[in-house]
Amino acid sequence: MTDADLLVIGSGIAGLSAALRASAGGARVLVVTKGALAEGSTRHAQGGIAGAVGPGDSPVAHVADTLAAGAGLCSADAVQVLCTEGPARIAELIARGVAVDRDPEGEVLLGLEGAHSRPRILHAGGDATGLAIEEALLAAIDAAAIPVREHATLIDLIVSDGRVRGAQVLVGDGAAAVAQVLDLRAGAVLLATGGDGQLFAHTTNPAVATGDGIAAAARAGARLADLEFHQFHPTALAAPGPEPERRFLISEAVRGEGAVLRDEHGRRFMPEVDPRAELAPRDVVAREIAQVMARQGGRPVLLDATRTGPAGIGAGERAAWLARRFPTIDAAVRAAGLDWAREPIPVTPAAHYLMGGVSTDLEGRTSLPGLYAAGECARTGVHGANRLASNSLLEGAVFGPRAADAALADLAPVPSGNPAAASPSAGSGSHPHPGGGSLPPVGGAAVVDRRALQRLMWERVGLMRTGAELAEAARILEAWCAPAPTSRSAAEDRNLLELGRRVVAAALARPGSVGAHHRLDDPALVVPPEAWSACPEPMPLED
Ligand code: FAD
Ligand code: SIN
Repeated sequence: MTDADLLVIGSGIAGLSAALRASAGGARVLVVTKGALAEGSTRHAQGGIAGAVGPGDSPVAHVADTLAAGAGLCSADAVQVLCTEGPARIAELIARGVAVDRDPEGEVLLGLEGAHSRPRILHAGGDATGLAIEEALLAAIDAAAIPVREHATLIDLIVSDGRVRGAQVLVGDGAAAVAQVLDLRAGAVLLATGGDGQLFAHTTNPAVATGDGIAAAARAGARLADLEFHQFHPTALAAPGPEPERRFLISEAVRGEGAVLRDEHGRRFMPEVDPRAELAPRDVVAREIAQVMARQGGRPVLLDATRTGPAGIGAGERAAWLARRFPTIDAAVRAAGLDWAREPIPVTPAAHYLMGGVSTDLEGRTSLPGLYAAGECARTGVHGANRLASNSLLEGAVFGPRAADAALADLAPVPSGNPAAASPSAGSGSHPHPGGGSLPPVGGAAVVDRRALQRLMWERVGLMRTGAELAEAARILEAWCAPAPTSRSAAEDRNLLELGRRVVAAALARPGSVGAHHRLDDPALVVPPEAWSACPEPMPLED
């Protein structure tokens, strides 16, 4: 007897969308998640969800923009699926209660973000799109009475006879007396564990984003791809003070509304770099900011929103407009003591999104039978070398349900019965922790220190890399060893080390620069003179 037909690990947009689809199809579903149910990147998403729903827009145009941002490395089939099925999945989210912002006539308001050829971003609550989606999906999970288990950390996948048959999950707070490992058995396992931004010293990602599902899949022998492609968001708030665990994001939609970037002397610098200026693809903007920051002693650049909003308004009206259009950001900026209606605010790039992950086909199947992946932990091929803004929520909404469908279609018939919540009873093996149990002992002298690892990744494997830096990082990472996964935090450290090594190896294996993977030692970086004339004239600089 299994605990579920489908074990869904993770409760963001990908996992919840998959669980709802599988449950509607009659499957016994169990959702486990590392923290509280709503934790994850989804709830923090600001700008919105991209979809070709506006007048004059089309999936064809959305495909073209996605492929262009991906720098030639997208899987065209996956992009086609994303952009053509996207509008229907967005309509489902709206039907579930996501109140997208509309004009007084009831027409959906569409935002503009970098590298989109037209406004295409649906948003809710101004800049609280992710929260609206997470809440609507959780309400639907509740209404469908799908069993969930919070504060349960995936440690490893259970594999036998070449098939994934469940997962080992650590429950309890990780303290020696209460931690316990459950063996959850399932017909199929869907990884929806999100990204790995916590690999880096500066990130927009929440604390749960430690790449656990990707590392567990790798240990089980699943194929990974594109780990060298990490997206760095150009504009995280850089308010003075100690480095926070998660840097607050200032959405690209703010630049979509006309905010511009300036160096510390007030000079606007993006127009001379790219004709799309502040709305160039993220990798371009983030790299330029990093270079400007390097020239000004590492100090942040400035995001100037003092000319946003309807033409001709004054600072007081602009403050009210900013608070209406971006309520979440407005509150955070003001809490940091800044008045962005009247003065530019300090921003810096930060690790934001992993384009690579566990390789899947168009239906979320990984290379291991019984294992599926969706959302940020999956490498479907929709993002190539650089994700188009606001395509990530869309990916979770489109590919989560596809993976659920495939998992159920592939399932051998399983005995029916009541869904069993994760507990030491009914089909679950349970054993106390710590001390090894069935977990492999991992040891050595120099156990990895998370902060040191994050700094190393930021400094040597960040926005711009060289072969020498990567080789040095590889040497240091090899010298560290992983702790035994006897607590959530130790399990996360083990995963961060595992992924750090794999990211560096992937970056070393790609000597050329493409998209978000930028090698300063790539000889092809020197733009040949014949390409210069193909570049459009730079826009005139504004003061
Ligand atoms: P998540 O929403 O991150 O959920 C992962 C889940 O897995 C969580 O429930 C987590 O607790 C759980 N989990 C992790 N490890 C384990 C484990 N070991 N055991 C059990 N459970 C585990 N994208 C857009 O398209 N538009 C935006 O506007 C946008 N804005 C963003 C703003 C911010 C600040 C951030 C950080 C990201 C933003 N993104 C945006 C990216 C997007 O939010 C994410 O890529 C997307 O939400 C990922 O969804 P997911 O379901 O794959 O993962
Ligand atoms: C943002 O609002 O800038 C983030 C959008 C995204 O990550 O796609």
